[in-house]
Amino acid sequence: MPRTQFISTGFHVPERIVTNDELRTWWDTSDEWIRARTGIGERHWVEPGLEAGSDLALKAAQSALERADLKATDLDCIVFATLSPDYFFPGGGVFLQRKLGVPGIPALDIRNQCSGFLYGLSVADAWVRSGQYKRVLLIGAEVHSTGMDFSPGGRDLSVLFGDGAGAVILGPGDDGRGVLSVHLHADGVGAEQLWCESESSARMPRISYDDLDAGRHFARMNGREVFRNAVVRMPEVVREGLAANDLTAEDIDLFIPHQANLRISEAVQKQLGLRDDQVYNNIERFGNTTAATLPIAMDEVARSGRLKEGDLLVLSAFGSGWTWGSAIIRW
Ligand code: UT7
Repeated sequence: MPRTQFISTGFHVPERIVTNDELRTWWDTSDEWIRARTGIGERHWVEPGLEAGSDLALKAAQSALERADLKATDLDCIVFATLSPDYFFPGGGVFLQRKLGVPGIPALDIRNQCSGFLYGLSVADAWVRSGQYKRVLLIGAEVHSTGMDFSPGGRDLSVLFGDGAGAVILGPGDDGRGVLSVHLHADGVGAEQLWCESESSARMPRISYDDLDAGRHFARMNGREVFRNAVVRMPEVVREGLAANDLTAEDIDLFIPHQANLRISEAVQKQLGLRDDQVYNNIERFGNTTAATLPIAMDEVARSGRLKEGDLLVLSAFGSGWTWGSAIIRW
């Protein structure tokens, strides 16, 4: 049976760089606090009204297509992971499809937040291995900056997030390389610990003046609970993936954790007993781009040569839902 291989990768972030110092325009915060607590130095924000998530996704996709010497018409389907779609519905997939100019091919939207890329990878992997689709474009794309709470209460969450998109093109190969496994989990017990309550089809009207006054249209997070769960679930699901393939942490050439907080990544690294040279972090430059962190990092390591053919690559994520997962990949 063929395995799902990474034909190519690409990413795109908006031009505008927002430093920690610039955030002091809106919040009582500091470069020292943000760096010490999160490892973030800067992030990219879109120009509101000029760039949507599907625009970032388009540029990431074009970069991946160019790298693979493929045209958009070579794609068989799109899988689009995001928690910040351009609109409540339809999802980002169809907007990206229209911008790519490939009418007719299916576009699947994935709503699994920080784990969205891994959930998307699992579906794409099954489609490729079954022979249903040969060239799958998998995207993780987010625009957080248009949803920032600029009141004082918004500072804990708003300093963490950035905008960006990552793309991978997947297809079958039979030389043993490719996706060895994807393990996924969810536990709805944590749903309200990191969520955006409004607009909501559970209520009428879906968004009210009261919601706006109370700031329910902004994401809300219990940061400590996210942290506490992430540092348990991520090592656990990496061990699950390694064990399923008769591998150990020593076999890992490169581990890319979801970029939520450098302290989370360091705690996970420590629990897995990994050396610094086995782990890649880029949160310092991008902040948390949710579904986009893993494909952005993958493109960076693939292009820089840090990730080489035959290397064992391990991905893991944890986030809102709760949802979490890992992928074990022979690059
Ligand atoms: O992909 C999943 C997405 N989310 C995450 O991964 C978040 C995981 N959690 C975290 O990263 C951390 O919990 C945070 C970085 C959000 C917060 O770090 P913490 O060490 O848990 O800080 P804290 O919430 O306990 O707050 C400590 C202090 C508080 O002040 P007092 O009560 O001690 O006076 C906060 O009000 O830091 C204050 N604070 C800030 N100070 C400066 C909170 N946000 C800020 C800020 N700048 N931006």
